[in-house]
Amino acid sequence: ATIDITDNSKAISDKLIGIFFEDINYAADGGLYAELVRNRDFEFSSNDRHGWNPTTGWAIEGAELTIDTVAPIHPNNPHYAAIDASNGAVELVNNGFDGIKLTKGEGYNFSIFGRSKGATPGSINVSLVTPDGATAANATVKIASKEWRKYEVSMKSRINADSARLVVKIPANARVDLDMVSLFPQNTFKNRRNGLRKDLAQTLADLKPRFVRFPGGCVAHGQGIDNIYDWKGSVGPLEARKPLSNLWGYHQTRGLGYHEYFQFCEDINAEPLPVLAAGVPCQNSNHAAHHTHDELTLFGQQDGIPMEEMDAYVQDVLDLIEYANGDAKSTEWGRKRAEAGHPKPFNLKYIGIGNEDLISPAFKVRFKMINDAVREKYPDITVVGTVGPFYEGADYIEGWEFAREENVPMVDEHYYVSPGWMIHNQHYYDNYDRKGPKVYLGEYAAHLPGRPSNIETALAEALYLTSVERNADVVEMTSYAPLLAKDRNTQWTPDLIYFSNNDVRPTVDYYVQKLYGNNSGNRYVDSKVTLDNNDDAVSKRIGVSVVTDDKSGDMIIKLVNMLPVNVNTTVNLPYSAKSATLTRLSGSPVDKDVKPVTSTLKVNGSAIPTTLPKYSMTVIRLKNGK
Ligand code: AHR
Repeated sequence: ATIDITDNSKAISDKLIGIFFEDINYAADGGLYAELVRNRDFEFSSNDRHGWNPTTGWAIEGAELTIDTVAPIHPNNPHYAAIDASNGAVELVNNGFDGIKLTKGEGYNFSIFGRSKGATPGSINVSLVTPDGATAANATVKIASKEWRKYEVSMKSRINADSARLVVKIPANARVDLDMVSLFPQNTFKNRRNGLRKDLAQTLADLKPRFVRFPGGCVAHGQGIDNIYDWKGSVGPLEARKPLSNLWGYHQTRGLGYHEYFQFCEDINAEPLPVLAAGVPCQNSNHAAHHTHDELTLFGQQDGIPMEEMDAYVQDVLDLIEYANGDAKSTEWGRKRAEAGHPKPFNLKYIGIGNEDLISPAFKVRFKMINDAVREKYPDITVVGTVGPFYEGADYIEGWEFAREENVPMVDEHYYVSPGWMIHNQHYYDNYDRKGPKVYLGEYAAHLPGRPSNIETALAEALYLTSVERNADVVEMTSYAPLLAKDRNTQWTPDLIYFSNNDVRPTVDYYVQKLYGNNSGNRYVDSKVTLDNNDDAVSKRIGVSVVTDDKSGDMIIKLVNMLPVNVNTTVNLPYSAKSATLTRLSGSPVDKDVKPVTSTLKVNGSAIPTTLPKYSMTVIRLKNGK
């Protein structure tokens, strides 16, 4: 093959590669959120999962585990453990999320809310115990007050342990109420308190994402209107946050809430892209497609937030922008952000409204109210709308028509498709209207039967992304979905990164994202590809994309070969160059464990001869364009 790179270029988005964080597959609690205690708030319930209740995750020795709700710390957090050790010492035990991992020499912060109900204050002994009974760390806190108070102590682990448990020992004769039992490693990402698991957060940062979408996915609009992710319940003091049942079948403490999300974006230099429900729940509630609003109300269901409550909901959306950007002194929500430890604004530029909703009348009227209000009060914020689920064709067309009518600046498209679809649809965005709404390809992945992540899926995505990069004047943002999945707690495959308490395992698809994230540009350069065999089936399996990046001055050439044969290639540059780096990901289609390898490439003049191995992605990066 010959690839002739021209002098012609056009401006493209410099925010093309981002990440989509959804709390699915235990991505937050038990995952990225570094809290080690499960059900720390005693708020698990059968709404989270059938059979769960406030004692789930806890064991007790020496007494009954009584859950009380009288005078709790906060009405959002009504349940707590009422421990009566009148008959002897009591041990309250928590195994964390499938065990607590401890690292020798590292510090752990334990905290608890307690109040003493007995005559004598309770000196509580806290220890971290391994499965074979060794005590890795221990400390004491004294529950002295009769009012709720937070007690904190730190301890250091003397040993490494994969599966320790937390033991809280209440001495004989004490009577105490306990809540918000928490254990955090001190070694979190950027050492933040209430922080994120360092190895996972670093793996995300390594993608160099230009933006982070949060909190979903379906989690954003919830299973029914009571399950919509109300952002206000996810900020402020942890003990006053409103836990939420996660529609993927578990419990969200929302300790990783909106504040922590904005902070993470700032820490990794990515734009926040929060997505709020358009006033309608997941697919407008289960029956919305078949029933009128009146019928739904009659059945006790809702296809959206009642219209008389929509003004308040619209205000909530505006308040989120104020929380992110408002002045710390003169605005209510800016002040709350400052109280949470971040006086400076987070500089929010985007807000998503809706997540692959049915484009129903209920959706349209509510979306319009929110969109109009945001654009009037915050004209500089880019609203990202939705065009419904891709696989429901009529809805998708209607979604696009509606977005055009409402002048929505950008819309979110989703598609989970086969590698074959990606190979055959590389023209997909070529004819998109450049004057209409821009595109955020918010969820996509190549799906094969059995849903593996392998070289075939990764290269299909890499190939398709060459065509997206070519169209990155209209497709401004993309994010693979879903992002994270915890072993034994996975509801959806494939995912970009798998993990357990002990390890992080990026997939080959992750490395494709990383190659794009680390090699993006802001101008697309035209090139001409000439193949020895011009058959359609052959040419569709070769993808080329050339970009330049004004910041580094580099030219970056991405070459994808999905053919089962090596392709001898000459890349002809528009100037002569001396050296470059070459990074390559290759393997057989079923390979899951290969990683990209980088080497230095000597270039002599303007022609670069290279062989594109069968099933490979190659990135050639010319330093400062020369
Ligand atoms: O990414 C998993 C799910 O797929 C998202 O929650 C939803 O938006 C889509 O249907």
